Formats: sequence, C-alpha cells, structure tokens
Amino acid sequence: MSILVTGGAGFIGSHTVVELVNAGHEVVVVDNLVNASEKSLERVEQIVGKKITFYKVDIQDREALNEVFEKEKIDSCIHFAGLKAVGESVVKPLEYYTNNISGTLVLLDVMRKHNVKNIVFSSSATVYGNPAFIPITEECPKGQCTNPYGWTKSMLEQILSDVWFADKEWNVILLRYFNPIGAHESGLIGENPNGIPNNLMPYITQVAVGKLKQLSVFGDDYDTPDGTGVRDYIHVVDLAVGHVRAMEKMKENPGLKIYNLGTGKGSSVLDIVKNFEAATGVKIPYVIKERRAGDIATCYADASLAEKELHWKAERDLKKMCEDSWRFQKNNPNGY
Ligand code: NAD
Ligand code: UFG
Repeated sequence: MSILVTGGAGFIGSHTVVELVNAGHEVVVVDNLVNASEKSLERVEQIVGKKITFYKVDIQDREALNEVFEKEKIDSCIHFAGLKAVGESVVKPLEYYTNNISGTLVLLDVMRKHNVKNIVFSSSATVYGNPAFIPITEECPKGQCTNPYGWTKSMLEQILSDVWFADKEWNVILLRYFNPIGAHESGLIGENPNGIPNNLMPYITQVAVGKLKQLSVFGDDYDTPDGTGVRDYIHVVDLAVGHVRAMEKMKENPGLKIYNLGTGKGSSVLDIVKNFEAATGVKIPYVIKERRAGDIATCYADASLAEKELHWKAERDLKKMCEDSWRFQKNNPNGY
C-alpha cells in the first residue's frame, strides 16, 4: 500500500518523501509544480536510489486526482499541497481560499470515494494567532489569524475535524509546524523560494551567497530578550521524520489528533544571524527596520505531546540547521 503525498515536490514534501522511502514506505507524489520543480524529485531519487512515482496533477482537478486513486493502491495521504506566501495571500485572498480550501475539499471527496480515510494535514503555528500562552501547547486556544493564508489553515483544521466527527472511520492528524529551516545534509534538496524570499533563513542564505545585499531585521523593540522576534526553528528533516511517526500512529486508528511539531526552544532573529555566522564563517550584514505587519513577538512550542504519543523529538540543533541551509544554497545558488 502507498502513501499519497500531495505537494511532495515542495520543500517539506520532498524531505518527507526521502524519510518515508527510507522507512520502507511506498510513496505516490502529486504536485502541480506551481511552487516547485520536478528536479527536486530527481534529487530525491538520487538520495534514496529509487524511482518516485509522480503525477503532475492539480488537486483541484477531480478527474485527474480520481485517476491517480484508480491506478495506485493508496491507503493514506499526507497533504502538503497548498499556497503558502503570507503577503501574497493578503493580495490574492480568492486564489488562496480557492486553491487551499477547494483543493482540499476535492481531495477529501476523492479519498472518501475510494474509501481512503487516513490523512495527515500540514497545519501551522499560525492558527494560534497571537498565542494566549507560551510555550504553546495544543490546548492553547486557536486565535485570530492576520492573513488569508493563516485562515486557510485554521478553516481546514475545522473542516477536517468535522469530517472526522461525521464519520469516525476517518483518522485525521493535524500537524502544527513551527518554523522549518535547514535542508537535507546531502545539499541536494532544500528550500527554493521564487523571487525575493519572505522568510528569514532563505533571506539570510541569499545574503550569504551574494544575491541580496543585507538582511532587514523587522523590529528590535519587541518584548523579547534582544528586542527581535522569537520563533521555534525546526530542522526540516526532523519535521519530515515527524510525518513518518504520524503515519505509524495511523495504525492505531487514532481518530482526530493534533500535534505541535517544534523544538520547544525559541530563538531571536539576531540569534539566527549569530548562529549562521558561527556555523558557516560568512558574515551577514543587517539593518534594523520597522516591525513587519502581522508579526508577533514570540512563538515557540511545547512539543511534549508529540514526544509522548508519536515518540518523536526534534534532534538537530541550530548549528546543523544553519550548516545544512547554507550547503544547499551554496551548491544551488540559483535554486534547482
Ligand atoms: P512548498 O510551496 O514548497 O510546497 C507546497 C507544494 O504544493 C508545492 O510543491 C506546490 O507546487 C504544491 N501545490 C500547491 N498548490 C497545489 C495544487 N493545487 N495541486 C497540487 N500541488 C499544489 O511549501 P512547504 O514549505 O513545503 O509547505 C508544505 C505545506 O506545509 C504547505 O501546506 C504549507 O502551508 C505548510 N506549512 C509550511 C510552513 C513553512 O514555513 N514552510 C509552516 C507551516 C505550514
Ligand atoms: N524576519 C526578519 N527579516 C526577514 C524575514 C523575517 O527580521 O527578512 C523575522 C520576522 O519578523 C520574524 C522571524 O524573522 O520575527 C521569522 O520570520 P519568517 O517569515 O521566517 O517566519 P514567520 O514566523 O513569520 O512565519 C512562518 C511561516 C508561516 C507560518 C508561521 C507560523 O512563514 O507560513 O511561520 O508557523 F504560518
């Protein structure tokens, strides 16, 4: 039996495919390549030494998705496919709601039709809004999102919970990721943003490789130890392994489960700059700028539930995250 990985050519998806194959799972990837390159899957094949079954399909295309389910023996799905640029979602809310929500509705309906009722969903710490308490446990109430992208995650969590509520044959695992960075240590796959990166680590690596002049640090007057924003950065390979553990959990017919995937450690923007410089020997010039709209001061996880129930814990430290991010960028200055 195979695991369908939607969005499997993307950043987190490609790393997860590697870990799934390494753990002995059969994988089928579906991706429309709107934010990815087929090359990432060629690199995955290079890493695992095996062909990856791939369909260039948009999950909104019911017929094409249906064909995949007819051809392949699928028993569960890890659902990464979605648009994820926070700023873009503010400008293009309809495109974001359509792609992320309608796409997921089509996927769920096609799954149900084929009696495939196990799904792991890529959610985000963004559903906590400005978190009611820190470190954030799964009990922390969901909050007000500051952008349409975040709302798609929050709404999809509700939709998936309702689907499970109506039909207890479903197993739904919602994984709330904190801030994934790093890359596979081979330097073959990694994060490959289009245009100027929005996120901190890809911005830093592009400064390091000389594509961008300097980093803008968005605010140094937050109520944090050094005034800059604090986040829970997690190595993408640790995150990928978390998905393998979630698939193992599926065997217990867990019903509806929610897990934070983070390290439990907060780091500031300046901590990341310092760690990157120390790990790579490359200097990152930066300037302090205004706060970025929609940003919060501090966000880090209490990840003990995943440790208890998924037997999963992030193992790779900031030094490793910086080294691996840098290796991918250095080896692939212009992406794939
Ligand atoms: P990514 O953009 O690299 O991967 C998403 C993949 O989905 C891409 O390969 C894209 O081509 C594909 N895709 C998008 N719409 C599609 C559609 N309609 N049909 C088929 N394929 C489609 O992003 P990522 O960082 O790997 O994120 C994966 C998932 O995790 C996303 O759902 C994202 O929202 C979520 N997430 C990411 C982060 C993060 O910081 N990277 C944090 C929390 C949650
Ligand atoms: N930052 C800068 N300069 C930059 C980019 C970011 O100072 O050029 C700062 C931000 O202000 C923030 C920190 O670096 O304090 C991290 O910012 P990112 O954009 O890398 O990450 P966010 O925490 O803002 O958002 C990420 C994902 C979202 C997800 C959210 C919560 O991009 O998709 O984590 O999981 F919703």
